[in-house]
Amino acid sequence: MCGIVGCIGTQQAAPLLLEGLSRLEHRGYDSAGIAVLPPAAGSAPRIVKRAGRVRDLADALPKRFAGRVGVGHTRWATHGPATDANAHPHTDASGRVAVVHNGIIDNAAALRARLTDAGVELTSDTDTEALAHLIGRSGAETLEAKVADALSLVEGTWGIAVLHADFPDRIVIARNGSPLIIGVGEREMHVASDLAALVRYTTTVAHLADGEMATLTAGGFTTYRQDLSATATTPTHLDIEAAAFDAGEYDSYMLKEMFEQPAAAERVLSGRLDDRFGTAHLGGLGMDARETRAVRRVKILGCGSAYYVGQMGATLIEELVRIPADAEAASEFRYRDPVIEPDTLYVAISQSGETVDTLLAVQEIRRKGGRVVGLVNVVGSAIARECDGGIYLHAGPEVAVASTKALTTMFLGCALLALQLGRVRDLSVADGRRLIAGLQALPGQIQEVLDSEQELVPLAKRLAEAESLFFIGRVRGYPVAREGAQKFKEISYRHAEAYQTSELKHGPLALISPAVPTVAIVPADELVDRNVGALHEIAARGGPLVVVTHREVDLGDLEGREGVARIDVPRTERELDPILLTIPLQLLAYHAASHLGLDVDKPRNLAKSVTVE
Ligand code: G6P
Repeated sequence: MCGIVGCIGTQQAAPLLLEGLSRLEHRGYDSAGIAVLPPAAGSAPRIVKRAGRVRDLADALPKRFAGRVGVGHTRWATHGPATDANAHPHTDASGRVAVVHNGIIDNAAALRARLTDAGVELTSDTDTEALAHLIGRSGAETLEAKVADALSLVEGTWGIAVLHADFPDRIVIARNGSPLIIGVGEREMHVASDLAALVRYTTTVAHLADGEMATLTAGGFTTYRQDLSATATTPTHLDIEAAAFDAGEYDSYMLKEMFEQPAAAERVLSGRLDDRFGTAHLGGLGMDARETRAVRRVKILGCGSAYYVGQMGATLIEELVRIPADAEAASEFRYRDPVIEPDTLYVAISQSGETVDTLLAVQEIRRKGGRVVGLVNVVGSAIARECDGGIYLHAGPEVAVASTKALTTMFLGCALLALQLGRVRDLSVADGRRLIAGLQALPGQIQEVLDSEQELVPLAKRLAEAESLFFIGRVRGYPVAREGAQKFKEISYRHAEAYQTSELKHGPLALISPAVPTVAIVPADELVDRNVGALHEIAARGGPLVVVTHREVDLGDLEGREGVARIDVPRTERELDPILLTIPLQLLAYHAASHLGLDVDKPRNLAKSVTVE
């Protein structure tokens, strides 16, 4: 999704901006641009912007593009197609203002009409251009006041960075719903919408809050509200290495992040398991035993993979805690005017902590007096801050659009939550300890699955040849199938559809043929016989099968049959099965996409963190 970078200091801005933008490429975008204030006093910003990749932009830059103050942007088209004209930065009529913007201006049509009526000639289809004109037309004296003035007319969400030829010693930024992080360097200041673009220069950062603005100069920064009254913001030092954002020896971030899963799993569990009482310690939830016991229902909200893992988590919680639990797509929740119950614990799951649909769901619940806790990876992110409490996932930076290691930690976060909720109710110490032993073994078992990577490659290649495929599973296995289909379709662009195995004969069986393979999730659980029965129905219609299962499962006369392959994962406690069953599906999707020659880290049309509705 759209990305912002900016810098002001002693170095040439253009190379820093291009480097920063390339660090944001993983977020998904379709055009890019930069604006730099030339050194000659009073010069208007020079702008180069292009539909396409950051490297197209770099190729288009003139040899001399001097200036020590600049902003840059990667755009993901919302208002108007991906064209050079619609790319950011946008300027006002005088060309003296340059604005980059993330988010959506809801009243853009009205603002654009007002500007046109006033004789302004608009040169793009974007909402952002209106904002640039409003800043340019403001009669206020300072750049800070001009930007605040313009924003007072705007409804919607924004993270913006603004340059002005008349104020060449500063960049003014503002945030409302779209993240902006200030990076404090030596005699230079940076801004970016994502940490990934800052860590090469500095790990001393300050997060701008919603409704806040800031002025960056070469020597420092000040923060203030939109009424220009000062706010106090102290930068913090992040204990993170720039290398955490590099793919290193791996061909892609996704591959690297899949192989980081054992370590990520250890981190999320670390210090949180209590074997003595067979429970979990989650101080960040901010709930005492009485409040925990008062929870009568759990509702999990997330988008995309976070929603599917939420379904896995809800099944696990209902099984262990014996209270109703379910998951819902956060993007739908808010729009059906949900009933918010005081004894329901709402759980928001998000890697980025910035997914706007999840954030708005959190705000809706809190507005109606509900209690929300977050399972969030990015520390200090909007969702983490908005929740009443939560569990940080400690997966480390996840760059690939397709979530792998964050997803694994989300599942474990749900398991920790289940332990804590269960042990204040009827979950016995013995069952608690059984789960803890299972959790402790998981990092090693995940590694075992990853070690079998090469055996999966030929299967992945075969699946990649199909135009269309099914992923099926039941109960614990169904969200696994949904997540598997999601991964497969998002990076290989093959049509992959998830179904409950039990629903197969109520529709999809009509499509089964030798050209349509099925990936079936068949753990050695109480449903194994029924699941194997469904495999026979598929095989009888010539449908190729890849069965993700346990060694103990007997596939009968399907065993060794042409067109039938099995992938065995290690046995764990049945409630924890979903996560081990998910890992081979990541590898299948990855190798299918690689076989097709696709860029697994940057799937077309998708973004890592979706900060617009
Ligand atoms: C986007 C990404 C998905 C991700 C979802 C939720 O759709 O493409 O990979 O699962 O957002 O993101 P979050 O940061 O909230 O976990």
